[in-house]
Amino acid sequence: MSEKAILQVGNNSYEFPLVKGTENEVAINIKTLRGATKGVITLDPGFKNTGSCESAITFLDGEKGILRYRGYSIEQLADNGSFLEVAYALIFGDLPNEAQLEKFHSDIKSKSVVDEDVKKIIDAFPKNAHPMGILSSLTSALVAFNPSSVNVDSEEEMYNAIVKIMGKLPVLVAWAMRKIKGLPLNYGSNSLGYIDNIMKMMFEKPNEEYVINPIIKNALDKLLILHADHEQNCSTSTVRIVGSSHAGLFASVSAGISALWGPLHGGANQAVLEMLEAIRADGGDTKKYMAKAKDKNDTFRLMGFGHRVYKNFDPRAKIIKIAADELLNDLGIDDPILDIARGLEQEALNDPYFVERKLYPNVDFYSGIIYRAMGIPVEMFTVMFALGRLPGWIAQWKEMRSRKEPIGRPRQIYTGENYREFIKLEKR
Ligand code: ACO
Repeated sequence: MSEKAILQVGNNSYEFPLVKGTENEVAINIKTLRGATKGVITLDPGFKNTGSCESAITFLDGEKGILRYRGYSIEQLADNGSFLEVAYALIFGDLPNEAQLEKFHSDIKSKSVVDEDVKKIIDAFPKNAHPMGILSSLTSALVAFNPSSVNVDSEEEMYNAIVKIMGKLPVLVAWAMRKIKGLPLNYGSNSLGYIDNIMKMMFEKPNEEYVINPIIKNALDKLLILHADHEQNCSTSTVRIVGSSHAGLFASVSAGISALWGPLHGGANQAVLEMLEAIRADGGDTKKYMAKAKDKNDTFRLMGFGHRVYKNFDPRAKIIKIAADELLNDLGIDDPILDIARGLEQEALNDPYFVERKLYPNVDFYSGIIYRAMGIPVEMFTVMFALGRLPGWIAQWKEMRSRKEPIGRPRQIYTGENYREFIKLEKR
């Protein structure tokens, strides 16, 4: 392949270098386009063809269904790794040895206390507030306690910001759930592992000793690993662009949480379960809902299906489907929702509408079934996604800041009114 791209604009032609990634992905580097052409820009709403950065964190091939963090396949990480190890690899570039992991965990624990005044903010929320709204507000509130931009030239400052948010976000996640369940706001225990501690903080009742169920723990660990990063998705791009103004890590992550909440992104896991429940309440007629999803006059979409990048299968969905089967089996739960999900999946996989558009189950199609089996309320599903995505957001923010990337500021093509004179109010 030629190492350059040639663009013809009117009678002039311009050359642009190609950039090749380590997995041979190719981009046209158009950094000089606007200057060279005296004002021409590219237009790509939704960034379907636009790379916003070079990144060494996550590789995914949507056609082949490949997902790797730092070169490690998602299948191997989910089978053998722990969430904290994976978080370390994402953030610092490689899997930790025992001493590195121990230090990382101990530093996180040392920063995991949240200012007691934050509880007053939680008190102010009504009990029926959505926990995703609570989490995003509380993370923003922590910006007020950690206002300063991080000095990227200080490794220590970067590291401290990272362990702080890794320590405090799980507390906020647990508190968001405890608020809607009417439980007292507690702390975990520094004697526990990262996941065990999250479970204790979320599920412990004030009058019972909490005993960790290893089946649930393993499933949670796996789910969080599967969600830990996904290169330049909507929320991660948000984190990078907010961080590019040199806003601090808490502010950037708080923006990412808001971006994640939308039903086309992380909010899909809640939407999937609500959809499955609605189908069940409506008599379980999956064909009716398939027809609705295909009807262009109906706004209904089959939630948990389709993906911007995966056009073959979502490797995370494969792992989650098996995990859901195993968990329900191990816990002896017979959830009719699972049968509806399986039925919908089978129908969609054999339906020309879905086949032609390459719409397959995504990571969210089965994750809600697992969360429900763990006793996590449906409104908490996207909060759990945010907890899993935290290391990815941190890694992407750190990479962007360490590379001293410029502030993110896209351009536009203006399509509004041309110049016109102001007409005074009384004359309009
Ligand atoms: N149900 C029915 N039709 C669908 C669905 C769906 N879930 N998803 C896409 N389509 C159709 C569109 O109507 C469109 O049809 P057309 O070509 O006839 O107009 C075609 O497939 C392409 O869809 P787009 O929306 O252009 O695809 P895009 O890449 O922009 O969107 C997205 C991807 C947002 C994930 C979409 O598939 C969707 O809305 N899915 C449901 C929500 C969901 O599950 N989101 C979670 C994504 S994973 C994550 O964020 C973790």
